[in-house]
Amino acid sequence: MQWKYLISCALATSQVNALLRFAFSQLVVERFDPLVSPGQVSSHLHQVVGGNAYVFLFNITMDPANDLPSLSTCTTCTYKEDLSNYWTAVLYFQHPNGAFKRVPQLPGQYLGNANGGMIVYYIQTGGAVTAFKKGFRMLVGNPWLRTFNSSSAEANSLNFRCLTANYGNSGVTGAPGTDSHELPNQICTGGIRSQIIFPTCWDGVNLDTADHKSHVSYTINGACPSTHPVSFPELFIETIWDTTSFNSMWPSGGKQPFVFSMGDSVGVGQHADYVFGWKGNSLQQAMNSCTDAGGGNCNVLTTQSIDTINSCTQASRGAEQTEGWIPTLPGCNPIQAGPATATPVSGCGAVTTAAPGTYPPVTPVQPGSTVITSTETAIPTQAPGGTAAHWGQCGGQGWFGPTVCASPYTCKVSNAYYSQCL
Ligand SMILES: *[C@@H]1O[C@H](CO)[C@@H](O)[C@H](O)[C@H]1NC(C)=O
Ligand SMILES: *[C@@H]1O[C@H](CO)[C@@H](O)[C@H](O)[C@H]1NC(C)=O
Repeated sequence: MQWKYLISCALATSQVNALLRFAFSQLVVERFDPLVSPGQVSSHLHQVVGGNAYVFLFNITMDPANDLPSLSTCTTCTYKEDLSNYWTAVLYFQHPNGAFKRVPQLPGQYLGNANGGMIVYYIQTGGAVTAFKKGFRMLVGNPWLRTFNSSSAEANSLNFRCLTANYGNSGVTGAPGTDSHELPNQICTGGIRSQIIFPTCWDGVNLDTADHKSHVSYTINGACPSTHPVSFPELFIETIWDTTSFNSMWPSGGKQPFVFSMGDSVGVGQHADYVFGWKGNSLQQAMNSCTDAGGGNCNVLTTQSIDTINSCTQASRGAEQTEGWIPTLPGCNPIQAGPATATPVSGCGAVTTAAPGTYPPVTPVQPGSTVITSTETAIPTQAPGGTAAHWGQCGGQGWFGPTVCASPYTCKVSNAYYSQCL
């Protein structure tokens, strides 16, 4: 199948790797980011996939001891054992008249008709890999970047493919050469695929760090650096934006009309968050046993039907309109096209807190699982200290990062869960 070829190309190697490739349908689209701003409305809209215990992630705490598999009652993952959460920014089309409409999504090729969602790969890029640990989380990308940095391994791990009809590749002769780091500046007749590769090396100690990044690293010259010696599976996620219904509405001349939810019309601010939540050691077992280079069915895991995963959804907790034609992006993010790094906006009238009662009832937990309480606190995974930059988090229940702000900013309490350097 063609995508096998594409994967090996995407990894810029001729080596054939063992991998899992599977579909997720969409759990919810809402303006929350429990990793970056727990307990608070996020500045921009995300699509979330995975286990429905996601509701617990921003409410109460981000306690790594929370057992997502036992708190969830369903998952949007084809493999029943994966109750992790993955989220990315969503894409909007901006009409020449200024209005925005969210871009629908396509399911992955050969994976059934999942409702939106993502295609996720766990790739063994050579040698034995160690599965992520319970409580592990990480972030890739920076929503505020607007200029591609060719010397950054992270920036090089975020790209787009301009698809032709039926998941075809526009003139691909040797990806990733024809992939772009910016949103394609041409009409893509089959949609645009976002491709995000997470770092594969871990420091072996921290489940998370204040920036959600320092505990992991990309390989250097093909190997994990001594600071991050533990080799993880390569987590690779794809989201396919079905831009086809907008192709007749492009502005004449000028720039491509798509924009990410944080006001990024360039595309280099695309990012993804991962909160590990596989049941027990099922991921390690899958890595050990399922070594098909085609990513086919992994028989040590339980496959759920597409109808089952499509039925696992949550109501959006948003207090604003995100669908249909809307005059501004949710959170009223202005378009910031760079090249300077964008700045998060505030005071523009957007909803910044979730009113009590806008949260739906929490899904009943499975028998035998531990009900977490609001007095539970996070297990510190790093020593306190350091300073947080402008806009950075500097406190809140469950926060274990820096509590001091870089001069001249001061730490202001937003709510019980979040204080920010302003
Ligand atoms: C978290 O959930 C509890 C119980 O459902 C609720 O009382 C509380 O208001 C929620 N907190 C937030 C920040 O939504
Ligand atoms: C680009 O990335 C490199 C490597 O991560 C980093 O050292 C450098 O500061 C970055 N440049 C800019 C302008 O951010």
